[in-house]
Amino acid sequence: MRPTLLPNSLAGRTTLILLFGFALIQALGLGIHTVNQIKLARIEYLREVATQDVIIYRHVAATPANQRAASLLNEPIPRGDQITLNSLPPSHDHTTTVLPLQARQILRASIVGYGIPPAIRPRGLELRGTTNPQQYIVSFALPDEHGLNPPAPSLPPDEAAPDQPSLTPPAPPPTGGRPNSLFHPPQTWLTIITPIRPPQPWRSPEFSTAFIVMSLLGAVMIFWAVQHLLVPVRTLAQAAERLGRDVANAPDLPETGPTELVTAAMAFNTMASRIRRFVEDRTFLITAIGHDLRTPITRLKLRAEYMEDDEQRLKMLADLDEMEAMVSATLAFGRDIAASEGITLIDLPSLLRTILDDVSDGLGEPSDALKYNGPDHLAIRARPLSLKRAIINLVNNAVKYGDAALVSLVQKNAHTVQIDVEDKGPGIPASDTETVFEPFRRLETSRNRETGGSGLGLSIARNIVRAHGGDITLLNMPGGGLRARITLPI
Ligand SMILES: Nc1ncnc2c1ncn2[C@@H]1O[C@H](COP(=O)(O)OP(=O)(O)O)[C@@H](O)[C@H]1O
Ligand SMILES: [Mg+2]
Repeated sequence: MRPTLLPNSLAGRTTLILLFGFALIQALGLGIHTVNQIKLARIEYLREVATQDVIIYRHVAATPANQRAASLLNEPIPRGDQITLNSLPPSHDHTTTVLPLQARQILRASIVGYGIPPAIRPRGLELRGTTNPQQYIVSFALPDEHGLNPPAPSLPPDEAAPDQPSLTPPAPPPTGGRPNSLFHPPQTWLTIITPIRPPQPWRSPEFSTAFIVMSLLGAVMIFWAVQHLLVPVRTLAQAAERLGRDVANAPDLPETGPTELVTAAMAFNTMASRIRRFVEDRTFLITAIGHDLRTPITRLKLRAEYMEDDEQRLKMLADLDEMEAMVSATLAFGRDIAASEGITLIDLPSLLRTILDDVSDGLGEPSDALKYNGPDHLAIRARPLSLKRAIINLVNNAVKYGDAALVSLVQKNAHTVQIDVEDKGPGIPASDTETVFEPFRRLETSRNRETGGSGLGLSIARNIVRAHGGDITLLNMPGGGLRARITLPI
């Protein structure tokens, strides 16, 4: 398998992909929030500064011209502002920039909104900014004396927005005022420089808490949803595993839940019942053939008795006996499959020891050639009688053809055990290690007749072990002798 950074499990992969998507969405959301928040904070701040500046302006403008400089000293100065009175506004050089139109609108709105009487409204307005350090610089042209100064031209139109409606011009001087042409006082400019505070979009503790809680909740929901969604996959895997171990008794999957699951469960149940029917039909066929062969064999035996030639008669009767033994073995095999014993928890070492004792008893004399090697206890789930029959077949073969049986048991991993049955015999030609599992297959050696097997032992053994979800393989050992290896799920 190609190495990959993705986790192995479907749950891991799905969780990772969803978490990645979720993080991306959260990051985008946070970005949008930040941009928006910065914009709002900027407007809010501009409003605050404009109001403050207009208050200062009003105070200064309402003071008689000759006392203004002195009154400035008493003016409370907010936020590290610098306030100066000059005969001219600060010159526009390359260090200052035009502030966005919005800033000018806010300042104008503050002047109008704060209700400065027309008589003392600013006669001119300059609004600039510097970027390094960030500062907001506003200069108001002060009226020289309230009520006495000439009507100043309305506020100069903005450079940035020449179409902006200008502030209402101050009221004309009361009658008897000096004519404009005679009185041109030097306009004095009040300049206020305010440092611009950098925006802090995430400062609010409510926002940070809400964002963290939201992210955690989202992540938890993703974990939960993925685990929940993958339950059916695990159920299906377990059902398939059960079916592999025990075709006859595996329970059907419940056909409930969302449509896709119902469809999958129905397909699985249909498949299981087809397999079950197929196994039943085949077993039935085997027993039926075996059964029907018995009558003609008996008839042939009767007829053979009448044969004149003694030698031929004995040979024919021996063949018929062999055929009868094969048929009996077949019928026993069929009965075993049909009986389908239940799966229980068994101690495998005890079973192996019992088998060795039984075989050794069968030999008549205590034998050193039969040995068990492995743990004292190891519990597995199996059908005890069938499994015993399968292993006995292997041990019998080892004793018959290899004069010894060393049975060893090891647990390979959390899910598998391995049973080896080794002998000291001639082994099997490498090309035949699979074919000997075929029913009635016996290798043509002179000894076969003596041992008198039917050739079904290995087929039956493999059939039983496969029905447990395991398998049997044969291997010739380098030093001579055959090793039959059973692997079984625990
Ligand atoms: N341990 C073994 N050593 C050598 N040959 C074996 C061994 N086990 C099985 N065989 C060969 O495989 C054939 C099939 O075995 P099996 O199916 O048990 O049938 P049977 O034992 O009735 O002949 C045997 O006839 C024998 O030739
Ligand atoms: Mg055998």
